[in-house]
Amino acid sequence: MTEPARPASTHSARTGLHVAVLLGVAAATAGATALLVNIFERKAEERSPFIRVVQVDDDTTDPAVWGKNWPAQYDGYQRTALPTKTRFGGHGGNEAMPEEKIERDPWLKRMFLGYAFSIDYRDRRGHAHMLEDQEATQRLSKPQSGSCLHCHASVMPLYRKLGDGDAMKGFEASYKFSYKELNDKLHDAGQAHPVSCVDCHEPDTMALRVTRPGFIRGIQALAASDAAVPALHSIDQWREGKRDRPYDPNVDATRNEMRSYVCGQCHVEYYCSTKMPLTFPWGQGLKVEDIEAFWKATTFPDGHAFSDYTHKETGAPILKAQHPEFELWNQGIHARAGVSCADCHMPYMREGASKVSDHWVRSPLLNINRACQTCHRASEAEMAARVEVIQSRNSDLMQRSGQAIVALIDGIVEAKAQGATPEQLASAMDFQQKAQWRLDFIAAENSMGFHAPQEAARILGEAADYARQGQIAALTARSAGAAPTSAAPTSAAPTSAAP
Ligand code: HEC
Ligand code: HEC
Ligand code: HEC
Ligand code: HEC
Ligand code: HEC
Repeated sequence: MTEPARPASTHSARTGLHVAVLLGVAAATAGATALLVNIFERKAEERSPFIRVVQVDDDTTDPAVWGKNWPAQYDGYQRTALPTKTRFGGHGGNEAMPEEKIERDPWLKRMFLGYAFSIDYRDRRGHAHMLEDQEATQRLSKPQSGSCLHCHASVMPLYRKLGDGDAMKGFEASYKFSYKELNDKLHDAGQAHPVSCVDCHEPDTMALRVTRPGFIRGIQALAASDAAVPALHSIDQWREGKRDRPYDPNVDATRNEMRSYVCGQCHVEYYCSTKMPLTFPWGQGLKVEDIEAFWKATTFPDGHAFSDYTHKETGAPILKAQHPEFELWNQGIHARAGVSCADCHMPYMREGASKVSDHWVRSPLLNINRACQTCHRASEAEMAARVEVIQSRNSDLMQRSGQAIVALIDGIVEAKAQGATPEQLASAMDFQQKAQWRLDFIAAENSMGFHAPQEAARILGEAADYARQGQIAALTARSAGAAPTSAAPTSAAPTSAAP
């Protein structure tokens, strides 16, 4: 670390000493004693075990019950219902409904034509809203899968029920249900809660754990691959071992890794429909082209090549990216330096005399003092400015790539109007898939480039380049399609022209 921060306690102890000298020996003695008592009390309280007022177990999905034992964490958790807003984070719009991203950035809507995201795609907001926002989205006007609940509800008891006690089996069955069917079951069981304490904590010990089958499957496949994972040392360790059982995050991961894995249960790229089980696409690695390669190698159970949708205007098969925070973070300097999601999004805070993790999960920019200055010695304003520089550059590059995609789509549409055939447009459509995949990967990621600035810029650079190459391919196809005599007679010409 280039900016080792001075521990706050040393600092205040020194200040205390200065004051003491000024006030004289008697006062100094009294002051020092008070400080010692204070430190002793704090240490004692930090170590003191919590008092369990109520029992909680794997089926306790209601966070209010846990809140009786751990009121400070519950208090933070409840605040995730409050509105948050920064330049790029939190949400615009009003409290009834966050702002539509597809109206703010019309190129997004154009990219998604032919898919439910072109109907309704809004800013995210706090965890307390996740289930109601999913239930309210107009994307449900198209058939959706029960898999949607994996990341929007405290769904593990339902998986166990579906699988006769075996959560993994229940998970495997869940994709075949419609969203409505499974959502009804959740409500009927009285378990319609957003992500809850039980999803990240072992009820007996409160140790962190991951529960989500999609994540466990995905990270196992990642470990079994030979993709480089410079930020996830426990995977390298598992790879060097006997490999007689799959990598198990709950056994093999370090506590520090768990502080990011719990978020990686949901803040990731995925595929979710009634065609196949929910899939986290990490079998070839976590980088944008690793995931692209994974999807390109995937076929649906019916044998068709994988794609998320067919673009309405061009007919290109499209890969849609969803919020790859975990994947992008993995490519950045913070992950490499062992800085976890929780370090920035759930920093420690003092609650009375004890130290608790802030369960008001939100933008760290609303909390720079605790989220950044524990490690960075620069002022709050300077830290905000550094983020602003990164995000502005990323935003500019993203808008530029958005314009390039629009030009590409226009190009294909015009070429089609001029009579270019799908065969002639194959190359342009392939570029459209590549360009959209990259642009969407960064646009759907929620840090506006911050989690890995250089990687984000690299990806956006590629997006713009592929879009422009595709535009040229469309122009070429257009001249071919617009030839006075259409393609078939032209190619027949040499033989028939022979006397
Ligand atoms: C070094 C600090 C840091 C780490 C580590 C980090 N983030 Fe972030 N994250 C940020 C910053 C800064 C933003 C931008 C916030 C903004 O624009 O208001 C952000 C934005 C986000 C957002 C959007 C927030 C909003 O208010 O809309 C999400 C979601 C997110 N991060 C999730 C994660 C996840 C998941 C991880 C771990 C895989 C992670 N972050 C790791 C600093 C961090
Ligand atoms: C069970 C799935 C799940 C888990 C686990 C999860 N999140 Fe989220 N997170 C979501 C969903 C869904 C939303 C969007 C909710 C909405 O818009 O209604 C969200 C929203 C957010 C936001 C935006 C908050 C705002 O005020 O706009 C941040 C930041 C965030 N999550 C960070 C994290 C971090 C950090 C972790 C790990 C400590 C984590 N999340 C764990 C599903 C999850
Ligand atoms: C792998 C986890 C995961 C799955 C599966 C998932 N979501 Fe989400 N969803 C998230 C996270 C994380 C966010 C917050 C980040 C964001 O909005 O980009 C979110 C945000 C949302 C939002 C609020 C923002 C928006 O997109 O308008 C809606 C609505 C939503 N999801 C609906 C759905 C529906 C419908 C499905 C099923 C087709 C689904 N989700 C499946 C993780 C998931
Ligand atoms: C998205 C995951 C997530 C959810 C949901 C969650 N926590 Fe936590 N919790 C964490 C993380 C991360 C830590 C830090 C643990 C560590 O570093 O060992 C933590 C720490 C704690 C601790 C240990 C003391 C502390 O504050 O560091 C308690 C107690 C706790 N959480 C209670 C709760 C309760 C009660 C709820 C529900 C109201 C809850 N948690 C929901 C992720 C979560
Ligand atoms: C737990 C410690 C820790 C926390 C918390 C932390 N950082 Fe960092 N940050 C680091 C380390 C370590 C580096 C890498 C420095 C190096 O090795 O040169 C770094 C690098 C950076 C960089 C340079 C980024 C790059 O890609 O080159 C920026 C900008 C930054 N941090 C901003 C922030 C902001 C903003 C926050 C709060 C949201 C934050 N950091 C929170 C430890 C931390």
